[in-house]
Amino acid sequence: MAYSAPRGTVDILSDQSGKWQQLEQLLRTICANYNVKEMRTPIFEHTELFTRAVGDTTDVVTKEMYSFEDKKGRSITLRPEGTAGIARSYVEHKLYSLPEKLQKYYYMGPMFRYERPQNGRQRQFHQFGVEMLGLESPYTDVEAMVLAVTVVEALGLKDIKLHINSLGDDESRDAYRDALKQHFQPVLNELCYDCNQRFEKNPLRILDCKVDRDHPTMKTAPKTIDYLSESAKAHFDKVCSLLDDLEIDYVVDTNLVRGLDYYSHTVFEVISDDPKLGAGATVGAGGRYNTLISELGGPVVPGVGFAFGMERLMIAMGDEMVEEDGLDVYIMPLGNEAKDLSMQIITMLRANGFTCDMDQCDRGLKGQFKSADRFHAHFSMIIGEDEVQKEVVNMKCNHSKEQTIVPLENIVEFIEKHYEGGHHHE
Ligand code: HAM
Repeated sequence: MAYSAPRGTVDILSDQSGKWQQLEQLLRTICANYNVKEMRTPIFEHTELFTRAVGDTTDVVTKEMYSFEDKKGRSITLRPEGTAGIARSYVEHKLYSLPEKLQKYYYMGPMFRYERPQNGRQRQFHQFGVEMLGLESPYTDVEAMVLAVTVVEALGLKDIKLHINSLGDDESRDAYRDALKQHFQPVLNELCYDCNQRFEKNPLRILDCKVDRDHPTMKTAPKTIDYLSESAKAHFDKVCSLLDDLEIDYVVDTNLVRGLDYYSHTVFEVISDDPKLGAGATVGAGGRYNTLISELGGPVVPGVGFAFGMERLMIAMGDEMVEEDGLDVYIMPLGNEAKDLSMQIITMLRANGFTCDMDQCDRGLKGQFKSADRFHAHFSMIIGEDEVQKEVVNMKCNHSKEQTIVPLENIVEFIEKHYEGGHHHE
């Protein structure tokens, strides 16, 4: 039987992992810059956590979760997103009682959603996310948004737009909910079964229905922004004015409601028109969530955060950033004694911090030189019978093509001197 990876999963082969590491490193550097620390939570959690946090009328919970019973009959779910786990951990470890009131975390890792796979959409995908917990301040919303914008700028992504909107507080949401019900009530019989359910439980979710997307009442639906309470409006105005002061481009997108239930106040999406992704692709998204922590059994602690789809960042990045690191030395033994000696030398060189490899296939010089080339080796170290006898090696610099006979005990010194000389060290 021939095995293949499950639909919607992807192997990151070693020719791609360098680019992934580069992306990860860049994200870690930016987070350090913002004093945001890493948190790692489990890849599976109790199903109940997601039902509660993400919301039991959302597509993510009703249609896309990978859930199963473990051997003790507990319902477990592979995490579809990262915010719920961070919030659970924050409550469980009482991180709200730390002296620093604003706690800022980031995470990177695989997430799982049973969705139809396509370009930039997988069933196992990766997110880079940031969660800032502890303050209701619009400054924190803006700090999160600026971090998100910094990421796409550092990656050199083009045709990017920051879309923002406000869902308001509880008071605004109640008023908006009533307005939505009034709006959709007369056409309920034209909407799908799910939307009829949503109408009762959570009318906001009608707006992200994929079936009724083109129904004429969608376009004319009331806007959250028209139902904001005074304090919610003040919060949103401050967010906008801070973004203006920082000269960050954004558009207020009154149709933006987000597909997860925990949001209140500011919501935002980073949208790319890069043709590699397809126009209007969302590379990252997030918003404020002021009741999530208390809903999970913690005190009333507000939060704000976002997550990027790392595959989408990778697609948009292209290949320009990737530069291959070459080996310092590729060792080319000819014969068994030379091979034994190579094993000694390579272990010594690696212990000295040099990046090296050696031929283990007993090939002739030609084949070995090809490998040295493929590995972008700075030096080829040729060891034949003669060299073994004389306790030397033949060092060929692949840039200058110069060859030097070097006594075994001088190898490290020779390489260091050569690099210090600097003429052709990259
Ligand atoms: P989300 O909008 O569900 O939000 O996902 C965030 C990003 O993850 C999306 O914009 C997209 O780039 C990527 N993404 C989602 N599903 C897939 C998929 N099937 N394949 C590839 N990429 C995907 C959240 O997950 C929230 N937890 C964000 C957040 C953090 N809000 C507050 N804090």
